[in-house]
Formats: sequence, structure tokens, C-alpha cells
Amino acid sequence: MTRKSAPKMTRDALFDLRWRRGLRSLTGPLTRLYGDDPTLVTRLREMLKSASDARPADLAELDLRRDLDPDWFLSSDMVGYVFYIDRFCGTVDRVPAHIPYLKSLGVSYAHMMPCLMPRPEPSDGGYAVMDYRRLNPALGTMDQLEATCRSLRAAGISPCIDMVLNHTAMEHDWAEKARAGDPFYRDFYLMYPDRTLPDAYEATLTEVFPDQAPGNFTWDDDADAWVWTTFNTYQWDLNWANPEVFLAILDTMLFLVNRGVEVLRLDAVAFMWKRMGTTCQNLPEVHDILQLLAQAMRIAAPGTLHKAEAIVAPGDLVPYLGRGMAAGKASHLAYHNSLMVQFWSSLAARDTRLMRHVLSHHFPDRFARAGWATYLRCHDDIGWAITEEDTAHVPPMSGPGHRAFLADWYNGTFPASFSRGADFQVNEETGDRRTNGTLASLAGLEAARQWGDAEAENAAIARILMGHALIASYGGMPLLYMGDEIGMTNDLSYLDDPAKAVDGRWMQRPEMDWDTALHPEGAAARILTGIRHIMDRRRAVPQLSAEVPTRIATHPDRALLIFERAADDTPMICVFNFTGSVREVTPWSLGLDPARAYRDALAGAPLTLTKSLILVPAYAALWLIPDRALVDHAGA
Ligand code: GLC
Repeated sequence: MTRKSAPKMTRDALFDLRWRRGLRSLTGPLTRLYGDDPTLVTRLREMLKSASDARPADLAELDLRRDLDPDWFLSSDMVGYVFYIDRFCGTVDRVPAHIPYLKSLGVSYAHMMPCLMPRPEPSDGGYAVMDYRRLNPALGTMDQLEATCRSLRAAGISPCIDMVLNHTAMEHDWAEKARAGDPFYRDFYLMYPDRTLPDAYEATLTEVFPDQAPGNFTWDDDADAWVWTTFNTYQWDLNWANPEVFLAILDTMLFLVNRGVEVLRLDAVAFMWKRMGTTCQNLPEVHDILQLLAQAMRIAAPGTLHKAEAIVAPGDLVPYLGRGMAAGKASHLAYHNSLMVQFWSSLAARDTRLMRHVLSHHFPDRFARAGWATYLRCHDDIGWAITEEDTAHVPPMSGPGHRAFLADWYNGTFPASFSRGADFQVNEETGDRRTNGTLASLAGLEAARQWGDAEAENAAIARILMGHALIASYGGMPLLYMGDEIGMTNDLSYLDDPAKAVDGRWMQRPEMDWDTALHPEGAAARILTGIRHIMDRRRAVPQLSAEVPTRIATHPDRALLIFERAADDTPMICVFNFTGSVREVTPWSLGLDPARAYRDALAGAPLTLTKSLILVPAYAALWLIPDRALVDHAGA
């Protein structure tokens, strides 16, 4: 018998297999959203096939690798870095020069903030896109983006960019045609001849920017209609009930990933579907759309990840990562804004009970083929997404009371507050206030400097590092937000720019301070070294992979957040002290096994006891792991 070599699979055959695999997850949502329409399925297949055919060879190979290892992004060596290209290094072609810096932080994922062609200012920080197929000319060209993606990939860094799904700029070609009366494109948006329907919808809608863009509809003279505009008046909501919108956006996404983008951050997805009588957020159809996009992408470009940006209440967040029938089929990543909110809440309250309740009550201990993007700060404000239902578990705390406390604490007006943030979008009607400020300013570094108080500075640094240890170990991919790693404080220069002055979020979007980043001293050096250390340790600990369940523990000391990363034979116990005083705990109260020796994988040292107690210093984090070597040695 002669040995035959394995048949080589052609691209066509591979596509057929992926299509058949994908169809199982596409048919349900496609039919629910758009009815039983065989021509839609045919058009979808054709679009995916031509994108797959056009996929460059290196990306086709990446697809194959990731198809064989679809959980690659859940590993503990994933660390993200988020930056505005202009504020980081000017133009996109200069990004590769900073790869060594990114690598020094352990970064394996780089989110370049909105970089597609925006409308002329104001453009909501680039989230009002008028052409998805062109780079913002101020940042470079699409070819340069492609080259930068290639360099990042070669360095083991997955490039991510924003894809705004909920709206386009009112100057987008589709909107221009809609305005000119083209019925095909008018149906891309939500337009109403008079206030009847807008008023009926408004009865249950909330406002995203009550200060700068009140209401959810904007009159457009040329279109002769009220246009749905959830965000700013110049951001026109797309009509996702129209399958042509689905196809047009998917086609755009395929274009971008074929240019070498590996991760698409899907912006403002919670708002994509509208239904009268609801808040028009988080509706089930949104999850069908996201599954459809993810599964279509998995057919044509399975190397790609989707990250959902849904900054919503804890109870609404989980479906974005797939639940029930959609498990493993929704977006791969989603922002854990509840973890972020609860970090700040526990710090101000010096009490982790609400955090423990929210994290254990609302979230599963892990997801199938999906994980959190964990973070402390980003370019947006912090919305205090704390519900009455949750505060009821921590009497006498109340929802409105605690939200007001947090806004006051973080704008610095609450007595003894260490924070220097600012209110954002104060809503007189609802009493709602959100908060701006950089991580360092919110965590106390700015105040410590004003006071000239070295101890306060130590505390601020410890808070920043404890927070990073938290996002590095909770489960998911930690995101470092540019400048946080060197403790950059609020930047008020935006007030001098009329296009930015109305939007306080610019205070947390400073220009990168390279002098400090490359030659750090004092607090900046301690923060940078600390964060590098944390990310380094994270990589070395397989228990921190997002596939390992995260279980919140109870403990009598409310200062402490404790969770277990429940790896079968070597579970890890993570402990965080949210107060400025040393806590003393017994090993058994942490669930440690008295027969085993432990070490602190974060400090890289054996765990030592003081009078049979574990001391948890102010704002410290411990990653306790059974010291197998010691136990084995004793048993031998
Ligand atoms: C997202 C962005 C935010 C933007 C909004 C509208 O929430 O993070 O910056 O204003 O979407 O596009």
C-alpha cells in the first residue's frame, strides 16, 4: 500500500465547511429579525464568500490558527492598551515605533480609539463617522493603518479599532442620500414627519447627553423630518430593522478586518433596536444582531474578535457575552462596567458588601468562549449604574443616596474625599450625575500633590495598583488606559478648544507624556513599575485565564473583596483591601487549606503569618496560591 499525503483543503472547501457550521447559528437570529427570506441568505453567503476570497494570505493563516484555538484570547497573557492615535504618537505610521513600550507593559492587544473618517468637529471624539472605509486623514491612510496592523501583529499584539454600529455621522453618504430623499437610504435611518411618534417614544426613553444634546430626536430641514439621534444631534441612529443596514454594516466590517484589524469594538450596541414603550436599550433583538454579526464573521474571518460596548446596568450585561442558546455565539468580549463602578464605589465607601453582592448575584462565574474586558478608567465618564434592587441588600444604603454620595465623593466635595473629578451631564430632573476624571485624579494623586502629603500619595499609588491587580485577576482581559500607567492627572486644556469645551470627558483624554513614560520618577515610576510587575505576574499564573471560574467569597471583614479562581487542583484566592488600614485575617476565613503552604503569586514570595494571622496592608492585593513544591517536598 502506498501512503497518500493528506489532501490539501482548498479555500473554497474551507469556506463551505465554515458556512455550514455558521448557518446553524445564523438561521435563528436571521429569521427572527428579518423573516424567512432566502434571497437574504443568498446575498449573505455571497458577501461572506467574496470577503473570504479577498482575505490576504497571512490573515487566512491567522484564521486557521484561531479556528483551531478559538479560546486563544482568554489566556492570562492577554493585556490590552487603549489609546488615541493622535494623543499617543501623532499619526498611525508612528505607532510601530512605540511597540517596545507596549511590550514592556506586557501588551498583546492595542485598541486605537476612533480612527475612521469623522465628520468635521465636533465629532464626539471620532464616534460620528462619515466614511468607514477611510482613515481619519489627520491620522494617515488606510494603507498606513494596514501596515501598522501588520507590525503590531508581528509583535504579538492584536490591533483593535472602533466600529460604530448604532449611528453614522449625518454627513455619511447614506445620510446624505437619505436627506436628498432617496427612499432606499431613507430607510437606513429612523425619520418621522411630525412629533407624534417621537413624543410617544420619548415617554419611555432616557437621555444620554441631557446637557449637550437633550432629547432623542433632531429636526432636519433638508430631510424634512425628525431624525432619531440618541447621542448628539449629528449622530443619526441606524435602522437595524432594515436588513439592508445589516448587510451594509457587515460589508464594512469585513472590509476593515481584511485590512488587518483583528478586533472590532462595537460601539453603543445597547441602543440598536427600538420598541415603543421601552427604553430602547438591551432589547432581545440587539443580541440577535450581535450573534448574527459574530457568526457571520466567524465564517469569513474567524481570526476576528468582537468586543461589545454596552455600558448598562448589571442585570442587562450578561447576554452580551452569550447566555442560554447564544452561549459561545455572541460577542467575544464585553466591558465589565459593573466591576469598574464597584471598584470606585467600594473605595469611597471603604466597604465591599455592595460589590460582593453585585458581582456574585448578577454574573456567572465564567462564559463559554467569551470573557470580560476589565478596566478601571476609559475615555468616557463613569455612570453610577447602581440599582435600588442591589442597594436593598446592603441596608441602610439606598440607590439614589449612594449614587449621590459617589458623585460627591468623586467630584471632591464630600468631606475627606481624596478625589478630584468633576460632575458630568447633571440631570436636574432625575438627579442623575455622572463623573469625569483620570484614574490618578480620581484615586487621590492630584489631591495628594495639592496637599503636599507624601502619605496621601502613597495611598493613591496603592489604590491605583490594587485596582490594576483587581482587573488583572478578576477574569478577562485587563485594559490599560493610556496615561494611567504613569499616573496622569486631569487635563483641562480641552476648555480652550471650542469644539471640545462642552464635553468634560476630554479631561481624561490627555496627550501622552512621553518624557515621564520614558524617564519616570517619583509616583509615575512607582506606578509604572507596579503595573509592569502585575502584568508580568499575571502572565505567569494560568489560574488567571478567563476560562477559570471566578467565585466571590463572603467574609466578615467588609473591607475585603475576596474571590477564588477555582482551578481544580490549585485554586487561587485573591484578596483586596479597599481601606487605608491594615486588616488581619485568619487563614481559614479565606478558605485556605491548613495542610498546605501558600505563596503570594503577586509578590512572588511565600505567604508568611504574623501570630497565625495574615496581614493585608492598606489597599493591598494578594494572590494566594498553594505552594505545590513545598507540599510535595513535605510529603516526599
Ligand atoms: C460610546 C463611546 C462614547 C460615545 C458614544 C456614542 O459610548 O464610548 O465615547 O460618545 O458611544 O458613539
